[in-house]
Amino acid sequence: MNITEISRLPLPEAAEEFIRSAYAELGISDQFESRMVEVIRQISETGTYVHTRTELEHGARVAWRNSNRCIGRLYWKTLKILDAREADTDEEIFKALCRHLEFATNGGEIRSTITIFRAAGPDGAAPRILNDQLIRYAGYADESGSVNGDPSQVNFTRLCVQLGWSKPEKSRFDLLPWVWQWPGREPAWVEIPAELVMEVPLEHPFYDWWADLGLKWHAVPVISSMTLEIGGILYTAAPFNGWYMGTEVGSRNLGDVSRYNLLPLVAQKMGLDTDNPAILWKDRALVELNTSVLHSYAKAGVSMTDHHEASEQFVHFEQTECKKGRTIHAEWAWIVPPMSASATEVFHREYENKVVCPNFFYR
Ligand code: ARG
Repeated sequence: MNITEISRLPLPEAAEEFIRSAYAELGISDQFESRMVEVIRQISETGTYVHTRTELEHGARVAWRNSNRCIGRLYWKTLKILDAREADTDEEIFKALCRHLEFATNGGEIRSTITIFRAAGPDGAAPRILNDQLIRYAGYADESGSVNGDPSQVNFTRLCVQLGWSKPEKSRFDLLPWVWQWPGREPAWVEIPAELVMEVPLEHPFYDWWADLGLKWHAVPVISSMTLEIGGILYTAAPFNGWYMGTEVGSRNLGDVSRYNLLPLVAQKMGLDTDNPAILWKDRALVELNTSVLHSYAKAGVSMTDHHEASEQFVHFEQTECKKGRTIHAEWAWIVPPMSASATEVFHREYENKVVCPNFFYR
């Protein structure tokens, strides 16, 4: 959901609502009254208030728990919080982003992590990251409209080029630079340190020719374009990551017609008749693409879940939340995996798509 679409309470009320429920969940309700006195004082003196480390940590975790589109929420409590609220120079932002990649990647044993930068205060001086993810591949469109690389990144790639970024030789998998912006200033950009980006070359357990396709994907998806809302405070830069579910890469990023569109190539390599939809060449190519992704990430020692396991874990999440007396909300069309949907349990369930805070919002 977009941040402009939610009805936001006045700050003192939003703060109170969050702190009351957070402190109750954390078993520290005895500190609620005194904390509220402090929060109200801060708001009246400065127009805003500063989250304690405990509030920030709990708020970020609950924002994940409330993310209706995420199938991986069983692990919400394990989210690691890197507090970068003090970062106020470009150099410090850069260092914090490097730290995020290094810590989250963890040699392939991915840690779900969020780095939280300065909040948007009454002075508005909070940065925004313009990349939609910290690691993405460039998409170069030519005049005919055909794209080399990731078509979803064409506009952002154009922005990067306008800012002065370029590659001497263009490939399908060029790592885009990081771009961020402080209010009222020109965007700042910096080349992403390639040594911090773990990538997985794709091969296939029984097609030897597969590796020659020269495909790969990055290990960690770090969403960087969403605003984190906690207790009425907006963190406009709060990049966060989990680990991939195979279909995100195999079905969507590599398979979608509007992305790398690899089904026709794979089917042709498999010797399938692509003129006859009824032989299910798209479906067979999809299965092999996904097989290749799961196989290659496992071989490289990079955390990844498959859609069957993820679906089971989501159902488990529903049960644990229910036991805690909480209602879960979800967006069915996003929870249900993009392949073999009806073979996963979540397909057969119904969810209410109600948005509650703390949460992550599109800008
Ligand atoms: N679907 C997005 C991608 O392919 C990533 C979204 C977040 N996914 C995750 N497993 N945390 O890059």
